[in-house]
Amino acid sequence: MQIIRGKAELRQALSMLREGGGTVALVPTMGALHAGHIALVAEARQRADHVVASIFVNPTQFGANEDLGRYPRREASDARMLEEAGTAILWAPDVDTMYPNGPEITVKAGPAAAGLDGDARPGHFDGVATVVARLFDQVRPDIAVFGEKDYQQLLVVRQMVASLGLGIDIVGVPTQRDADGLALSSRNAYLSEDERRAARALPRSLGEAAQAIIAGTPVVEAIDRVREKLAAAGFDPIDYVELRDASTLEPMTTLDRPARLLAAAFLGRTRLIDNLPVEPAE
Ligand code: PAF
Repeated sequence: MQIIRGKAELRQALSMLREGGGTVALVPTMGALHAGHIALVAEARQRADHVVASIFVNPTQFGANEDLGRYPRREASDARMLEEAGTAILWAPDVDTMYPNGPEITVKAGPAAAGLDGDARPGHFDGVATVVARLFDQVRPDIAVFGEKDYQQLLVVRQMVASLGLGIDIVGVPTQRDADGLALSSRNAYLSEDERRAARALPRSLGEAAQAIIAGTPVVEAIDRVREKLAAAGFDPIDYVELRDASTLEPMTTLDRPARLLAAAFLGRTRLIDNLPVEPAE
């Protein structure tokens, strides 16, 4: 695996990769990799001949009071994991390489960014769209692979690619979970032992609500129960618990089509997000 930090070297390495033919998949990450990221690389390998992974902790997607400064950085072990997983190129630019003139040209995320994290983290999805557009331009992949854990992000990227006609196939990969159900996330590293135990309430309450909604419990009632269980486990504040259309993210009050139940809440200083598919019974 080549580790590349400059745009000229990246261009050269990509043209060598493409000389022998074959397709290229991009797996964009912010590093601090876990099994969830490795599942993205595995999916990328299934679908393309060459895998390029990127590690870039993108300042433009962090709010002023968020965790940019303390976001975990461990490139050496990330590189080992990516190499073992069969990555051909690790693209690891620094901030000046990604934003040589600062972020003077930005991308405004589309309607999929409305509500949910779009409200809770103003500007976040514009930052994501801006950096992903740059990564797509730098790597020119045939496909790009994203985790469903950041479900709204996946739809924001899909919408950007469709709107701008970028011709990149955007693939979503189901969330990887620990044995107790907690979604793998680089931010889980912030949790104390007690918080880590309490965190199970997030996937558990969402799973129970998903089952209840499928069985006919009114959506509002099921969501209220999730809020109660999260509060009882110590989550505070709860940013949102909502049922949304699985492909447009429109709010839903009855389960009449495939949906997604999404939540975001804080345990101490750590903000956790999760979501589950909710499909109407046959
Ligand atoms: O999901 C992430 O890790 C980031 O939001 C991404 C897509 C790499 C953009 O910085």
